[in-house]
Amino acid sequence: MLMRHSEGMDAMNSLDELMVCKLDTRRRQVEPCTMVIFGASGDLTSRKLIPALYHLRKERQLPEPFRIVGFARREKTSDIWRQELRDSLGKNARIQSLDESVWNDFARQIEYCQGDLSDPGSYRRLAEMLAVAGDERLRQRVLYYLAISPGQFVEVIRHLSEAGLLGKETRGAGWQRVVVEKPFGYDLNSAQQLNADIMRYTHEQQIYRIDHYLGKETVQNILMFRFSNTIFEPLWHRGVVDHVQITVSEKLGVGGRGGYYEEAGALRDMIQNHLLQVLALVTMEPPVSLEAEAIRDEKVKLLKSVRPFLSGQIDRQAVRGQYIAGLVDGQTRAAYRNEPKVNAGSHVETYAALRLWIDNWRWSGVPFYLRTGKSLALSASEVRVQFRRPPSVLFAAQCGTHLDANSITLRLQPNEGISLRFNGKVPGASVEIRPVRMHFSYDVEFGAYTPEAYERLLLEAVAGDATLFIRRDEVEAAWEIIDPIRTDWSARPLTDAEFYTSGTWGPSAADQLLAHAGHAWRNPQV
Ligand code: BG6
Repeated sequence: MLMRHSEGMDAMNSLDELMVCKLDTRRRQVEPCTMVIFGASGDLTSRKLIPALYHLRKERQLPEPFRIVGFARREKTSDIWRQELRDSLGKNARIQSLDESVWNDFARQIEYCQGDLSDPGSYRRLAEMLAVAGDERLRQRVLYYLAISPGQFVEVIRHLSEAGLLGKETRGAGWQRVVVEKPFGYDLNSAQQLNADIMRYTHEQQIYRIDHYLGKETVQNILMFRFSNTIFEPLWHRGVVDHVQITVSEKLGVGGRGGYYEEAGALRDMIQNHLLQVLALVTMEPPVSLEAEAIRDEKVKLLKSVRPFLSGQIDRQAVRGQYIAGLVDGQTRAAYRNEPKVNAGSHVETYAALRLWIDNWRWSGVPFYLRTGKSLALSASEVRVQFRRPPSVLFAAQCGTHLDANSITLRLQPNEGISLRFNGKVPGASVEIRPVRMHFSYDVEFGAYTPEAYERLLLEAVAGDATLFIRRDEVEAAWEIIDPIRTDWSARPLTDAEFYTSGTWGPSAADQLLAHAGHAWRNPQV
């Protein structure tokens, strides 16, 4: 068919317009429900949960009606709790100026239930409170958020079940779901036991295990980046990738969390969950669909292909460290051992670096380096995919190792974005080649709005979409990877070489871990 010139141009221009593909229509709708927060007086509730819910309310994303019941031991009225929440909301950086009318509406939906986690009478009181909701849907659909110590998870779930507030079977249009915070277990055995105990009262589909990294925009974007483009995925395999580095570094020390950290250490606190989740998303095979189970199946498959760490070989594959006093951003940072609630002779690691191998067809022979630590030089999280060098002909033959290898960096935080590094000719008569970079920046492309991970996660839990939550076999597979390292480290005290000065990039042994293979850490640039 003949087209007039201008028609043809219009058609071509429209092809160049940014086409937006909206997937949300396929997602589940949020339904009116009640959210009960156990640990209502805690830090997580005031710092993360309530600000996230307020924001969702402001954005009109919460269902209507919606009810929040806070459960905690301290004696107080709903009015007093609301006032406390209001005060701490004002201090939340993400909420620059509180919208009073939104807050007033939101506050009307918030109530407080004083109770003791181990007292059956408290759950009867909670049941009475839940039963008085005027709207039937608020009584039938309840999301229990356990912002409490993991040691109390089973007790609360058992009490809820005995009080008739949590059933294994979903009745009619109703449902009950339970959101649990990390850490989920202490090692493989305790995680399996915890799972078995919880499953006596609920189905796996009712449990939403949080890893807040999965709520981060940039982490979610890993799958879009890989599977909605044709140009990157063909590069994503052992034929072209030399090695991959995943860094999650923090300038912060353990601060007031010394008590918790003494039980956790960097391996349990960060690697078992956040870093292994990022690794799984970066390396998994394409799922057969976007359904939660299909995505989680692929993540589990990937975690199960990680080559087990063998005792006797761990010191060649894993490095730990603990920070001593130093300067971070010009401020003196005390040694970990001098932090509050930390044992003065503690051997807990505040830094961990691993080299691991994925024994599957795609990644066989490609080393993956993971590292995380506190009191380091910079706070930054990124994934760097380092490609092989070009064959030693033409430019590479002359330049040797001076010719930079290409890389793609996924910057998870801060300066969220993606960078591609490749070689280019320096303009001029002499022939010089040097790396040049192309950057995609979230801020530049989409504006500075970066929703908090908890906003997304809470919304997904309300909507009943488990994609961003960790399944039982996933959490167990992650512990299986970590346990041998944990066992090895806990049997050996730290040596002098394992301490690092605050404000640096960690112990020197971490450099050796890569140097053996001719690699070096690429520190994030912020
Ligand atoms: C938490 C850890 O899960 O993640 C903390 O317990 C850590 O120790 C935090 O500081 C890091 O999260 P983010 O979102 O600041 O990278």
